[in-house]
Amino acid sequence: MHVDSWRTTYAGLMPDDFLAGLAYDAQERRWAGILAVQGPASFVYVVEQGGEMVGFASGGREREGDPTYTGELYAIYLLEEHQRRGLGRVLVGAVASRLAEAGHRSMLVWVLKENIAARGFYEHLGGAFLRSARRDVAGLELEEAGYGWLDLDPLRLAGS
Ligand code: ACO
Repeated sequence: MHVDSWRTTYAGLMPDDFLAGLAYDAQERRWAGILAVQGPASFVYVVEQGGEMVGFASGGREREGDPTYTGELYAIYLLEEHQRRGLGRVLVGAVASRLAEAGHRSMLVWVLKENIAARGFYEHLGGAFLRSARRDVAGLELEEAGYGWLDLDPLRLAGS
């Protein structure tokens, strides 16, 4: 699912040969490692519909020692045909709720600068543009935009 979503999201934004070279089995091994160490410092939520996984979000402690933002949305991906139906908001809500339970009050996210749709989504959810930086994205050095939330409450899922 991650590979499929990367291919549709980053077509034209990442080199074609890089996207074509992404392998299901390598991603499966990578995810097995991530899923083996779940806890408040790093966690994953998935969305299933009709028994099929159609999206996920991962989050946890901010990874680079940002002085202001202590929580981070690491990744959020939905299959193309399941986008723009409210699932992204639910996934962000789940991550924000879990971060708040772990004692975080703030969250940041890094997104490819050219990923205009995802940037619009974060801005719509109240994320403030913080800064641009060249960062390592799966071994490629790319320009990213950082967005931050100083208050997680408006993002949290109702009742959590
Ligand atoms: N511009 C403005 N508003 C937007 C946009 C946009 N491009 N996209 C969504 N919104 C709004 C919606 O209208 C909705 O508003 P409302 O709740 O007030 O009515 C709100 O944001 C929530 O939208 P959802 O339908 O929940 O968004 P979606 O389910 O499509 O999830 C996501 C957004 C995760 C970006 C999804 O589209 C996706 O998987 N895209 C491809 C992968 C991707 O780019 N992931 C982010 C990479 S960066 C990273 O992982 C850290």
